[in-house]
Amino acid sequence: MPFGFEIDRRAFIASLGGPAVVAAMSHEARADALEHYAETKLEELAAQNQAALAGQQAEKFPTVAEIQAQIATRPTRRGAGSLFVAGRGENVKILERLPEKPTLLDFFRLRFQPANHVLQSATRALKTGMKEEVILACLLHDVVLNLIKPDHGWWGAQLVEPYVPEKTSFAIRYHQTLRFYADEEAGYEYPDSYHRTFGVDYVPPPHIQATYKMLKNHKWYMEPRMVTVNDLYSFDPKAVVTIDPFVDIIGRHFKQPKEGLGNDNSPVAHMWRTLANPDNPL
Ligand SMILES: [Fe+2]
Ligand SMILES: [Fe+2]
Repeated sequence: MPFGFEIDRRAFIASLGGPAVVAAMSHEARADALEHYAETKLEELAAQNQAALAGQQAEKFPTVAEIQAQIATRPTRRGAGSLFVAGRGENVKILERLPEKPTLLDFFRLRFQPANHVLQSATRALKTGMKEEVILACLLHDVVLNLIKPDHGWWGAQLVEPYVPEKTSFAIRYHQTLRFYADEEAGYEYPDSYHRTFGVDYVPPPHIQATYKMLKNHKWYMEPRMVTVNDLYSFDPKAVVTIDPFVDIIGRHFKQPKEGLGNDNSPVAHMWRTLANPDNPL
């Protein structure tokens, strides 16, 4: 027990994507991943101990009906993209213009910031030795939330589909579905935050249920599953993360159009233009 507590070997291997992935990793990558896994587990144990010490009661989550009842108490709908809504009690800010031929990195800098959540998610995926298509999926999996929130898996995949490997858009499209379904072996539990966000008695709609059924037997099931595994543990507002470690991966796998995103006449160019110019009234 070099870490002072027991490592669940099966859960560790599953968190990396299974025995085949682990076998393909270098000795060094494996050691790094183990260390990272141990750190995460240690943090979880510390948090559990703290909660126990504080004698905290289990959180009372809202019901679906209670969440429904809040709709008419807000000036905006919950599904509005975050680029279009100011923080509570604030006004929206003037946005800096994008360069004439904007790249994905320009969008990260000028429209997706702070992008903390996706950067943390991708950072975790990188540290745990995920394949590059999955790391890219983690980096892009929620950026569409700046545009629109309902069905963000489908919108998010569509936004990048012409430019990324098929496995990457597959992982983005279906992470939304798999977030609703636990997979212990892969190291994914149904998140408490979903009890908070959707209601404790929430049942996913038929299209999500049908998609889950399809995914369970799909040969690429692990691609979106690994996005959910890296998604779950990655909310930390204080973590310092940058896009720098991903610039090469973007260069290798993101087909940046030479005209700039939004100017390339692709089937999704208008989505990038909307992100570029969210102040246009029509
Ligand atoms: Fe998501
Ligand atoms: Fe996410």
